[in-house]
Amino acid sequence: MKISVFGLGYVGIISAACLAEQGYKVLGVEVSRDKIEQVNAGVSPIVEPYVGEIVKKVTASKNLVATGDIKQAVMETNISLICVGTPSRETGEVDLSYIFKTAEEIGEVLKEKNSFHIVLIRSTSMPGTVDKYAEIVEAKSGLKRKKDFDIAANPEFLREGNAVNDFYNPPYTLLGCECESSEKTIRKMYSFLECQFIVTAIRTAEMLKYVNNAFHALKVDFANEVSRFCKRKNIDSREVIDIFIMDRKLNISEYYLRPGFAFGGSCLPKDVRALSYEGKKIGVDMPVVENIMNSNDLHVEWAFQNIIKEKSPKVGIFGISFKNGTDDLRESPAVLLVEKLLGKGKDVYIYDENVHLANIMGTNKEFIEREIKHISTLMESDPIKMLEKVDMVVIANKDNSYREILNNYKGKDVLIIDLVNLFPERKSGKNYRGIGW
Ligand SMILES: NC(=O)c1ccc[n+]([C@@H]2O[C@H](COP(=O)([O-])OP(=O)(O)OC[C@H]3O[C@@H](n4cnc5c(N)ncnc54)[C@H](O)[C@@H]3O)[C@@H](O)[C@H]2O)c1
Repeated sequence: MKISVFGLGYVGIISAACLAEQGYKVLGVEVSRDKIEQVNAGVSPIVEPYVGEIVKKVTASKNLVATGDIKQAVMETNISLICVGTPSRETGEVDLSYIFKTAEEIGEVLKEKNSFHIVLIRSTSMPGTVDKYAEIVEAKSGLKRKKDFDIAANPEFLREGNAVNDFYNPPYTLLGCECESSEKTIRKMYSFLECQFIVTAIRTAEMLKYVNNAFHALKVDFANEVSRFCKRKNIDSREVIDIFIMDRKLNISEYYLRPGFAFGGSCLPKDVRALSYEGKKIGVDMPVVENIMNSNDLHVEWAFQNIIKEKSPKVGIFGISFKNGTDDLRESPAVLLVEKLLGKGKDVYIYDENVHLANIMGTNKEFIEREIKHISTLMESDPIKMLEKVDMVVIANKDNSYREILNNYKGKDVLIIDLVNLFPERKSGKNYRGIGW
C-alpha cells in the first residue's frame, strides 16, 4: 500500500512522517517549494515534539519523499490523504478552496489511472464537502465514485504540542465511509493503531470534528468565565474546577477545563466561527456557540486589564505561540495581548523558545506579519537578559522551562502575572498574581 499526503503543514507532516515510520512508502505533496526542499533535506517544516527525529529517519530511508508532482503522487499511490488548510474567510465561513483545488488536480490525473484510488479528507471541513469533492472528481475524470475511486471523511483529532503522541493514540479513528471495499483498505492502513475504529455516515464524521472543537472551545471559555467570577468573589477557581471535574460521570473529562488563558490557534477560533456562520445560514439559532468567541475575547481583555493596572512600563512576555510545545502563532491570544500592550504604549519584550521567526512559514508567517509587523524587534533570545530589562513578566504559555527560569532567577524583584497557572502552588500576593485565582 502506497500513500500520498497532500499538504505538509501541521497535520500533513505528522500523518506523512508517522505513516512512513510504520513502513509505508509515502509521497508528501506540497505547493511550497521551501517545504519540499526542507522535508527532503530531512528537516521538519514545523516545531513539534518528536517530529524532527521521525522526519530525519523516514526521509533518510526514503520512506517519505516530498514532491510538487501531483501526477506522480496519484499514479504511484493507492490512497491520498488531504491535509491542506481550511482557513476562515472574513465572514467566518470556512474557505474550502484549497481542498477543492486538490479535487480538480486529483480528478485530472485519475483520467489516466486504471486502478482504484481512495481519497481521505483529513482536513476539517463542513458536512457536504466530501460529496462535493466527489462530484468535482467525477466531472474532471469522467469516472464513477465507488466504482473507479472513492472519497471518505477521516477527520484528524491531534492537538499541536502533543501531535505525534495523539497520532499514535487518538481517542478513536473515525471514518465516514459508504463503500465496503474502501473501508477494508483504510482499516488495513490504520491496523497499527490500537484504538477503537468507528465507521459512520460521511456527513456524521464531517460533523464530529466541528462538534468536538466547538465543545473544546466552549469548555475553555466556561472555565475562564468561572475563574473571572471566582476572582471577584475571592474564591480560588483552581479549587472550584478541581472539585467540579471530580464528577467523572456528568462532567466527563477534564481536558480544556483548567482555568487559564484564552484559546487560540488555527482550529478552535476558525471552527467556532464556521459553525456559527453555518447555523445562521441555515436558520438555526446557536446563541452559545455564537458567544464563545466573545467570551474568549473578553478573557484576553481581562488579562490586559490585569496587566495594565500594575502600571509597569516594561513588560516581558514568556510565550507568544498559541500554546506551549509549538511555534504556531496563528490566532495566538498572546499576540493579541501584545498588540493591546503596544497600543497602550508599553515597552514589550518577548521570549519564546519555540518561535524562531526565520523558520516560520505559510499561513503562520502571514498571520504574524499582518498582526505585528516589527515583531522581530521585540523578540529576546536570552530570558535572563529580558528579566533584567523589565519590572513585570506575563506568562502566556504553560512551559515548564519558564517555571525553572523564574524559580532560579536571583536578580531584582519582578512581578509575575500568570495567565496559565504555571505555578499551581502559589497564591496571588506581592510578587505573583494569577489571572483567575
Ligand atoms: N493544526 C492542527 O492542530 C489541526 C488539528 C486537526 C485538524 N486540523 C485541520 O487540518 C487541516 C490542515 O491544518 P494545518 O494546521 O496542517 O494547516 P497548514 O496551513 O499548516 O498546512 C496546510 C498545507 O497545505 C499546503 N497546501 C495548500 N494547498 C495545497 C495543494 N493544492 N496541494 C498540496 N499542498 C497544499 C500548504 O502549503 C500548507 O503547507 C485544516 O483543515 C485544519 O483545520 C488541524
